[in-house]
Amino acid sequence: MITINAMDTIKTENSLLEIHDYRKREDLLSQMREEMATVTKLQRATKYEQTGRWVGGHLSNHYHQSWSDSLSDGQFQSKMWMVDEICKLGSKFDSTESCHIEVVGSWFGWPLMEFIHFAFPNIKQVDLYDKDELTHSVMAQYKNQFPYDYPVHQFGDWFSRSDVRRRQVIINTSGEHMPHIMQRRNFFKGNPLVIIMSNDYYDGKDHTHCVEDMMKLVEQQELGTLYYTGTRNMQTYNRFMLIGRVHES
Ligand SMILES: C[S@@+](CC[C@H](N)C(=O)[O-])C[C@H]1O[C@@H](n2cnc3c(N)ncnc32)[C@H](O)[C@@H]1O
Repeated sequence: MITINAMDTIKTENSLLEIHDYRKREDLLSQMREEMATVTKLQRATKYEQTGRWVGGHLSNHYHQSWSDSLSDGQFQSKMWMVDEICKLGSKFDSTESCHIEVVGSWFGWPLMEFIHFAFPNIKQVDLYDKDELTHSVMAQYKNQFPYDYPVHQFGDWFSRSDVRRRQVIINTSGEHMPHIMQRRNFFKGNPLVIIMSNDYYDGKDHTHCVEDMMKLVEQQELGTLYYTGTRNMQTYNRFMLIGRVHES
């Protein structure tokens, strides 16, 4: 045991000199500050952070918060879930087919747009529909940042489009925000693949069409053919997904 009582910085045998503690932590903090600076620099260089800075500088806090939510782990995982299940469809879907895709309630478009080609390797065109025009300006920023080798077009309210068109794929990951999309089935030629997600998060802002479980989503959406139904627990709510086709096949 150290017993030099005159020096109050000297402690028991299990401790160190105060100056030792100070120096050790100062070195650690300095190292962490350097690492932090490196990570911040790398993060600032990402396309997402650059888009986020534009959102912060041009739109309200509400949009900045919404943009940040769109990149949350839950959002990312649910989009990956969709891509994963489509990749597993194998015999049900010809992945080499050239696809014209509609994304209904596309929000900011990304991050799904960054990896949608894993599910659909032969994309001819993607049409992103969101009735909130301010999301379009954010999508335009992303379009400037991310390379893609097919046209990406932006539209407003999906339900107000009334021409009959041929599409291979319709994606709606925002079912909780809108009436069921199969009421527009007659506006599509052929038999598009349809992916629909919704949830039971009734307290969410603008969540006007939540469903209490996956079976209710099946009843609500009335797909002609059903290939996949699934539920994911997202801690505070459940997310449901259907994959199928507009008509019976
Ligand atoms: C806030 S996002 C939620 C996204 C969803 N939780 C997800 O994971 O993709 C829902 C979006 O749907 C859009 N929306 C709602 N009704 C729509 C409609 N009729 N046509 C196009 N977009 C619509 C809203 O403007 C909003 O940006």
